[in-house]
Amino acid sequence: MNNEIKYKQFEEKSNQAELGGGQARVEKQHAAGRLTARERIDLLVDADTFVEFDKFVIHHSTNFGMEKTKFMGDGVVSGYGKIDGRIVYLYAQDFTVFGGSLSRTNANKIIKVSKLAMKNGAPIIGLNDSGGARIQEGVQSLAGYADIFWLNTKSSGVVPQISAILGPCAGGAVYSPALTDFIFMVKDTSYMFVTGPDVVKSVTNEEVTKKELGGAVTHNTKSGVAHFMNEDDESSIMAIRELMAFLPSNNMDDAPRIPNNDPIDRTDEKLNSLVPADPNKPYDIKELIESVVDNHYFYEVQEHYAQNIVIGYGRMDGRTVGFVANQPAFYAGVLDIDSSIKSARFVRFCDAFNIPLVVFEDVPGFLPGTVQEYGGIIKHGAKLLYAFAEATVPKITLITRKAYGGAYCVMNSKQIGADVNMAYPGAEIAVMGAAGAVNILYRNIEGEELTKTVNEYTDAFANPYKAAEMGYIDEIIMPSETRIKLIQALEMTANKSEQNPPKKHGNIPL
Ligand code: HXC
Repeated sequence: MNNEIKYKQFEEKSNQAELGGGQARVEKQHAAGRLTARERIDLLVDADTFVEFDKFVIHHSTNFGMEKTKFMGDGVVSGYGKIDGRIVYLYAQDFTVFGGSLSRTNANKIIKVSKLAMKNGAPIIGLNDSGGARIQEGVQSLAGYADIFWLNTKSSGVVPQISAILGPCAGGAVYSPALTDFIFMVKDTSYMFVTGPDVVKSVTNEEVTKKELGGAVTHNTKSGVAHFMNEDDESSIMAIRELMAFLPSNNMDDAPRIPNNDPIDRTDEKLNSLVPADPNKPYDIKELIESVVDNHYFYEVQEHYAQNIVIGYGRMDGRTVGFVANQPAFYAGVLDIDSSIKSARFVRFCDAFNIPLVVFEDVPGFLPGTVQEYGGIIKHGAKLLYAFAEATVPKITLITRKAYGGAYCVMNSKQIGADVNMAYPGAEIAVMGAAGAVNILYRNIEGEELTKTVNEYTDAFANPYKAAEMGYIDEIIMPSETRIKLIQALEMTANKSEQNPPKKHGNIPL
């Protein structure tokens, strides 16, 4: 065979591999409003940067007549490429080949790129569209999954791991994403469940649709499993590109610094009237975040879940910052189980990847009641406390209004290791609000005496000066100056070097 024929054969094989499960199945995928694995990769990485590995891999199963049905690539496209010029490793499950299900060889492809990602210090991105374990391969497939889960765990905190759920993902196909750092879902075409509606019906007799059980809305609003929800594959993939721009490639790196054209000393007079003097009046904390970040650009994480706390990324003078902010516009910004878990995981991610934290605090305390107590608010609230206390990245807190009770301690207080603590002149730092405190201290007073005592308590504690007298608050600042004050604090702490005591690992209350 001469070279010309060999080259032609290579081209044909390559084209065949790129067809996945064939034209009919590709059309079915498109008709369902979903892109193919290769179309998704084209959108994800910079043009002409994708390098594919293992294009010609096939499965080795001989059960159920599988030896007669082989597709080159075997249901997953894997390799590496660049996002904004930086290397990422990736794999995209190909639903047109056995429903993107995981075979032993398919798992090996994912494992290969995941190991390279860890060894070379670059993020790993999984575009998931898979019916789970390849049924025809039995335990071989399960072993493949277990290998992937093990690697996900070893990679955790070493390189960012991102998952997009872009189709019906079941069984093992959801546990690997669950071990990764961020999960993106598509509104009407992606699902995550351990088992689908049919099994649910046979086991629990519960009637539930695919969407109710594991659609994007469910996981973005109810379960908190997912972090982002987008309209379609393309917007989901674009959102991944945006997230990547905020993150470092690995835990030894800093996030990329973007040239900043937004003046660092930009003041905002509107902020002086954003926070109402009445501690019971709501306001939208996102207005503050959006006012102070570079070019007003805030990338919110878990926007639809536990909205009483806001988390996400913005840049301050070009550097990535992780924001954690109580949201007085939603349940008064109270700390409950969901908001504690949501923010604790975010704080730990930022700490693992050298992203400084800025905390905006306005919180009435922990949500009381049997629902919360039976649900374990004590241990879940402790997660947030633990996460802030253990974090060694620069940590800045600004108390915008209420810092009551345990919530004062939890929300990155000086005592649990914050580097700079600031407060607005209207801040109230106390064990609880005036009315509640007087009610406990003087149970039998009423009328004028009650009003007088509440006023005395308010004068004594509803301000930031008691804490400032003790040095627990470093600076009291005008709201309009928030941006420059935060940038100064972040600059001052940029070279912070702190280490926790050596240990195998801590024991965060799970
Ligand atoms: C082999 C599979 C498959 C699987 C789908 N296919 N899932 N092949 N193993 N797990 C094949 C189908 O036979 C079909 O092949 C093609 O993929 C498309 O599937 P459809 O059912 O036609 O598509 P759709 O109607 O969109 O439904 C998608 C689906 C459904 C919801 C994912 O296929 C499904 O319920 N699959 C099984 C899910 C599951 O229970 N997996 C095992 C989980 S256990 P053709 O040739 O017709 O195109 C698990 C263990 C690990 O993962 C647990 C670790 C903790």
